Amino acid sequence: MLQKTSPEIGGMGHSVKRKEDLRFIQGKGTYVDDVSLPGMVYGHMVRSPYAHARLTGIRSEEAKKLPGVLAVITGEDLAKAGLSWMPTLFHDKQMVLATGKVLFQSQEVAFVVAEDRYTAADAAELIEVDYEDLPVLVDPHRALDADAPILREDREEKTNHIFHWEVGDRQATDGVFQTAPVKAELNAFFPRCHPAPLETCGCVADYNPATTKLTVWETSQAPHAHRTLFALVAGLPEQNIRIIAPDIGGGFGNKVPIYPGYVCAVVASLQLGRPVKWIESRSENLQSTGFARDYHMKAEIAADRDGKVKALRVKTLADHGAFNAAAQPSKFPAGLFSICTGSYDFSEAFCEVDGVYTNKAPGGIAYRCSFRVTEAAYLIERAMDVLAQELKMDPVELRLKNFVPPDKFPYLCPLGWSYDSGDYKAAMELALEKIGYSELRKEQEEKRRKGELMGIGISSFTEIVGAGPSHTFDICGIKMFDSCEIRVHPTGKAIARMGTKAQGQGHETTFAQIVAQELGIPVADITVEEGDTDTAPYGLGTYASRSTPVAGTATAMASRKIRDKARKLAAHLLEASEEDLEWEPGKFFVKGAPSKSKTIQEIAFAAYTNFPAGLEAGLEAVHYYDPPNLTFPFGTYICVLDIDKGTGEPKVRRFVAVDDCGNIINPMVVEGQIHGGLTEGLAIAFMQEIAYDESGNVQGGTFMDYLIPTAVETPNWETDKTCTPSPHHPLGAKGVGESPNVGSPAAFVNAVVDALSHLGVKHIDMPIAPWKIWKILKEKGISE
Ligand code: CDP
Repeated sequence: MLQKTSPEIGGMGHSVKRKEDLRFIQGKGTYVDDVSLPGMVYGHMVRSPYAHARLTGIRSEEAKKLPGVLAVITGEDLAKAGLSWMPTLFHDKQMVLATGKVLFQSQEVAFVVAEDRYTAADAAELIEVDYEDLPVLVDPHRALDADAPILREDREEKTNHIFHWEVGDRQATDGVFQTAPVKAELNAFFPRCHPAPLETCGCVADYNPATTKLTVWETSQAPHAHRTLFALVAGLPEQNIRIIAPDIGGGFGNKVPIYPGYVCAVVASLQLGRPVKWIESRSENLQSTGFARDYHMKAEIAADRDGKVKALRVKTLADHGAFNAAAQPSKFPAGLFSICTGSYDFSEAFCEVDGVYTNKAPGGIAYRCSFRVTEAAYLIERAMDVLAQELKMDPVELRLKNFVPPDKFPYLCPLGWSYDSGDYKAAMELALEKIGYSELRKEQEEKRRKGELMGIGISSFTEIVGAGPSHTFDICGIKMFDSCEIRVHPTGKAIARMGTKAQGQGHETTFAQIVAQELGIPVADITVEEGDTDTAPYGLGTYASRSTPVAGTATAMASRKIRDKARKLAAHLLEASEEDLEWEPGKFFVKGAPSKSKTIQEIAFAAYTNFPAGLEAGLEAVHYYDPPNLTFPFGTYICVLDIDKGTGEPKVRRFVAVDDCGNIINPMVVEGQIHGGLTEGLAIAFMQEIAYDESGNVQGGTFMDYLIPTAVETPNWETDKTCTPSPHHPLGAKGVGESPNVGSPAAFVNAVVDALSHLGVKHIDMPIAPWKIWKILKEKGISE
């Protein structure tokens, strides 16, 4: 049981206002583009207008003549230093600057450095590049055809196939399908989308020839991993590399990979001995950096006539673009997609995924998602609705019949994951009650009689977050633990540093609350720092909602080490034995004599002024935490919407989100996370796609085409929670940041299909723009 702290201490469960907002709301944050160094110069990328073309020449003489231009770097120049290719974070390599040919529109071809940004951009216009068209491969379903162009000539394997990955028991699953009385099938495409963070990617690389130290300010969600990879790839001594990730304006997975712009800025700084800034434009960000999803999925469910599910079979084609630059753990080519049995008690399951190359931007990053979990949750939650439709059963009844029951936890699912804890029925029942489900169904019947279109969509997702146990999880070989170092100063104030790096999640507040919970030092007296590799302990960074399950635990464990030492100091000060002391947040006291006590502040002072012989001075600790398992947050989301018969426009009327992330550190921060993630889910479901035409031209490469929801489109989110603590997390917490993005797309799509199901509609692929619905209504003779 967690001890409740006072509001002044502000430990777990208090809605402490976010400390970082003080500078953000005053416009005083320091983002990479705010970094300005003496003698700094600017880089600009020349990019390919073609999706697939042979590079036959680059002429840069005119550009070099422009006053203020300092350097033009091409792929051939990098090749001389062995740097024209770099490893991706997932068993592949990627061109830094193109040599030989280009493989996607907007690929990096040359890097121009000039005294100012405008000159660099003007000089880039003067660079002439000769291209020879090559046949373009856009459709991943054609990637393995005999007549498909082979894209990656650099690879030994002359095929566009990247990987085949399977998990589960194929034979047993097929066996169940052979005899099952009911089968439901769904073919669904989760479109390519993009995290589109408010701040694009960028860096300032500063190589100091006098000290031979390279400092890189970088929009990085994983600064330590970047430092090690820079050292390994460029051969620079790691102690001479310092990565600083300052304030970051949203990451959502987009800022995990290493991008060519970072490498070029570093090379240019090494070459010129001056700091080089490179900041991406919005279009460059959308067109060339890590995309998400792009999964073509098929799910089949075998069930009994009464709706009891028996087996799940999943087959997926994953479009990874030109390079497999997925940022995910080494052992999982399709991330944690094998969580696709979701919240349901299947006895058998089999899942296979094939990845292919196409002429599109590289990636496959985890956009607010624990490595392909969003795709999995969407697939199973849509497939359950297809089964309900097949059985003519209420989707709520079907789900309740099939939830993994609370007494089965820890639950080993047929695809191998051991779910830590869950109570899916409780979350579902709370959501049903809040939204008034049975009344809504009656209203829907009424409306249908009047010819009006109203839909109710349900999603009861299960997540898997907190990568991860080091026996299974690593990125490029670096194990996925995380860390925290705490130093308590003589006056009882403290600084905590972690291996994670927030991009808006509020770590400076919530991690301080963990220290406050464990040590009783008021949250106002604790500074949290992340993102500087020279000062923070080594960690794998922030993405996939791993911070709370992994670094959050490291913070609690480091605090507990400090408390253990504080007990020794208190015993010395109180002239009592350690065993006779009791702890309450903020002080030790002698059992049975509460007035004989020492506060943590008094103890901290003694750690530097009055420590017993044989005990080291100081009060600090570091902890590297390797979790025994992942955490499995869950929830039920219900969307109610109405469709305009004239235009096909769906309007979300209500949306109830019940989340369960175990014990909560800061309820207000969690609510903010859920509001943000739901808004992203809404955009994915209805508005966003990075599509390509048949020549490989990006269709969603600007905010004119790739739509960002404003307050006008965003409904009022109604949130609530249940609490099922994680049994293995010392604070009982699970991650939450990505849950709303993972769980909500299915709720929106289920609601649209539910509104149209009586017309025989079984599925509509995202993004569900009004025209798609209007077309269906027109075909059915409902719309003009
Ligand atoms: O890794 P990331 O920070 O993106 O995700 P997270 O661990 O889910 O945390 C997102 C934010 O919610 C952090 O500020 C957490 O401290 C907070 N949180 C919380 O207050 N209680 C939880 N049970 C989970 C997260």
